[in-house]
Amino acid sequence: MKLTIIGTGYVGLVTGTCFAEIGHEVICVDNDASKVKLLQSGGIPIYEPGLQELVQKNVAAGRLSFTSSTSEAVEKSDVIFIAVPTPPQPDGSVDMSFIERVARDIAGAMTSYKIVVDKSTVPVKTGDKVAETIKRYCKAKVEFDVVSNPEFLREGFAVEDLMHPDRIVIGVRSPRPVSAMQAVYTPFNAPIIVTDINSAELIKHAANSFLALKISYINAISVLCEATGANVQEVAAGMGMDERIGRRFLNAGIGFGGSCFPKDLSAFIKIAQQIGYDFHLLKEVQRINADQMDRFTKKITDTLWVLKDKKIGVLGLAFKQNTDDVRSSPAIELCQRLLKEGATLRVHDPKAMEKAKSLLPNVTFVEDMNDVAEDCDALVVATEWDDFRKLDLEKSRKAMTHPIMFDGRNLFDPAEMERLGWMYKSVGR
Ligand code: UGA
Repeated sequence: MKLTIIGTGYVGLVTGTCFAEIGHEVICVDNDASKVKLLQSGGIPIYEPGLQELVQKNVAAGRLSFTSSTSEAVEKSDVIFIAVPTPPQPDGSVDMSFIERVARDIAGAMTSYKIVVDKSTVPVKTGDKVAETIKRYCKAKVEFDVVSNPEFLREGFAVEDLMHPDRIVIGVRSPRPVSAMQAVYTPFNAPIIVTDINSAELIKHAANSFLALKISYINAISVLCEATGANVQEVAAGMGMDERIGRRFLNAGIGFGGSCFPKDLSAFIKIAQQIGYDFHLLKEVQRINADQMDRFTKKITDTLWVLKDKKIGVLGLAFKQNTDDVRSSPAIELCQRLLKEGATLRVHDPKAMEKAKSLLPNVTFVEDMNDVAEDCDALVVATEWDDFRKLDLEKSRKAMTHPIMFDGRNLFDPAEMERLGWMYKSVGR
């Protein structure tokens, strides 16, 4: 099929590339000319495992192209996906101006029937607004359908999630676009659920909020574990073996971050409030998440006492593993808190150091994780990168003034760490 994706951020670029990979003809549009140029020349603006190779392969095969011209792309396509940002506003609500702008641009370019699909995470009822806008601004007065098709990919696993989805959600206002949408997704061999458009929009916010709730739940349990000498990982394993619960997203740590969960929670709380429902449960999820960071920072200050003039090594800056994304990263927040207390920091991340530089101007960026501990009073693990499990513990221990590790992601085994001569503090164990 001939498809357009408007917006080449995480969702747009990965979606467009995977659509091309399974055989569709895809045009990706972005209003940032320098980004389009970079993509046209074979580069990509983000780190995402496997993505660059797929982009290059599909560009070479002639199935994937990039442009700044919405009208050219709309003209050539049957289905147009909107994948532009929906950033948070200071009151927690969502800034819909990018979606509205794109809806007008698409409307202005339409000269025949098109299916306009919203992939961005949006408040329920956005589809109706997009349809109204297109109707108002489409001079050619052609027919169209608006569809909601939320995305469930995780950064760092985006290509894998997109190529092997758990489910495809297609929310429609009429039956007309269903067969075309099914044709787009049939090659992915995933279950397809067709719903009304409001339900599809709600599914996305409800799913992300539930996952955040799951993390806050296990973080709350971690507090009980610490107070009683239990082990949160064993509790999570025992809970997770119940198929109704499942083990995934039960990793206790320093809390969730990133560009999705914090923003989507605030937005969902706001949407509920506007509809007349006080979503207390989700406010509690936010509170537990904030407390988790407070508690971990306190663990460090309780042990090291005064942080002024202490040197601390920090492993991890990205908001999670396998990504260079530092937006709303708990690791960055932790660094900023330690700096505020007067500590000096030596930091390392396998991929996110470049993007962290503007957020942490006064720290030492260390290229090799095994050099981070040099002369440090403590080492902190802030991101769950698998690489850190291979840290040279003996070299790090010897390089420190005193071997203390605060592991905010539970990557190491407490008994083993003690055997190796470390004072080791993790979360909920
Ligand atoms: C999340 C959802 O998982 C995706 O399904 C969704 O499509 C995406 O948001 C989105 O709305 O676009 P993402 O933000 O990329 O994906 O990352 P996650 O893997 O969900 O991790 C989010 C945060 O939770 C990270 O800070 C991570 O460290 C933390 N986390 C995750 C935990 O603290 N414990 C866990 O058990 C799992």
